[in-house]
Order: sequence, then C-alpha cells, then structure tokens
Amino acid sequence: MRPATAPRPEFGYAGAPLPFHKPFAVTMPASVSPEPARRQPDGAAARPMQWDAAYDIGLSAIDDQHRKLVELANRLLEHPEAGVRDEAVVDILTRLGKALAIHFRGEELIMRELGMPARRLDAHVRDHDRILDQYAELNIGAAAGAPYRAADVFAQVIDWVGRHMLEHDLGIKDYLPA
Ligand SMILES: [Fe+2]
Repeated sequence: MRPATAPRPEFGYAGAPLPFHKPFAVTMPASVSPEPARRQPDGAAARPMQWDAAYDIGLSAIDDQHRKLVELANRLLEHPEAGVRDEAVVDILTRLGKALAIHFRGEELIMRELGMPARRLDAHVRDHDRILDQYAELNIGAAAGAPYRAADVFAQVIDWVGRHMLEHDLGIKDYLPA
C-alpha cells in the first residue's frame, strides 16, 4: 500500500508507485496526445502511448528504435494487473532492458558523429545513465518482492521513453546536416 504521506502520482494509476517515479510533466507538442499514461476522466485504465510524427527525429536508425521502445512499453498494458515477477512482464522488461541499452549506446555514437557539443552530449548521456540506473533499481526492487504491477511499470517506462524523447532526443535534430 502507498503510505498516506506519499504524494499522489500524477498518472492516477492505483498501484504501488515505483520509488523513483517522477510525474510526466513535460509539455507535449500540440500534435501529441496528452500524457499517455494518465487515466481517462471516467477512471478508465491507462491508454497505450500513440506514436506521433512529432517524435520523429529524421534518422531511421533512431526513430525505428524509438517506435520499438514504445511498442514494448505498450505491451505492459496487455497485462495491467500482472505482477512485475509474472512471466509475461519479466519477458517484456528483459526485452526492454536490452533494447534500452543497445539504443542508448547507438544514439550516443550517432550524436558524437554529428558533432554535438560536449555540454549537451554530456547532459543527454547522463539522462541515459539515469534511466539505466532506474531500470536496474526496478529489477532489484522486483527481485526483493516489491508489489509493482505492470501498469505501474508502464507509467515509469513512459517517463523513461516519452520524457526522454521530448527533453533530449528531439534536440538531435539541431545537429542533422541540412
Ligand atoms: Fe536519448
């Protein structure tokens, strides 16, 4: 159960909050549907995140992997009440962890090749490292018996994927050749 003093998660999901969960409070491009994991006003369950052209950077090597990450995140909502140690959720999280690690390293290579200034590159890499650290924390918590549901994990993964794309990845467009 969530302690009474804990702030209510902005997503409105009813399960146990992950210890590092931060509300998804980034201003979305107007063309993108609002916070995807937020419950509908009628209390319906979280909606899958819809891809939108506003997420496209213009490099298929990155965009294709972003779409794959969103697809993997959305698969968590096929089992919203499943526990984080259930086989289907473990399978999705295992695939997600590998996909994140491969994607981040590849994206960092591309950013270096594009000549992104060190200060901006470092901030971007730090956010990759934050996400991978939190992914590890999630697994440690799951192994220790934390009562996370797939829907809770979905909200966190959307923060990792959605927030990161908007706050960092779209900035790659500034360094693409004209
Ligand atoms: Fe990134």
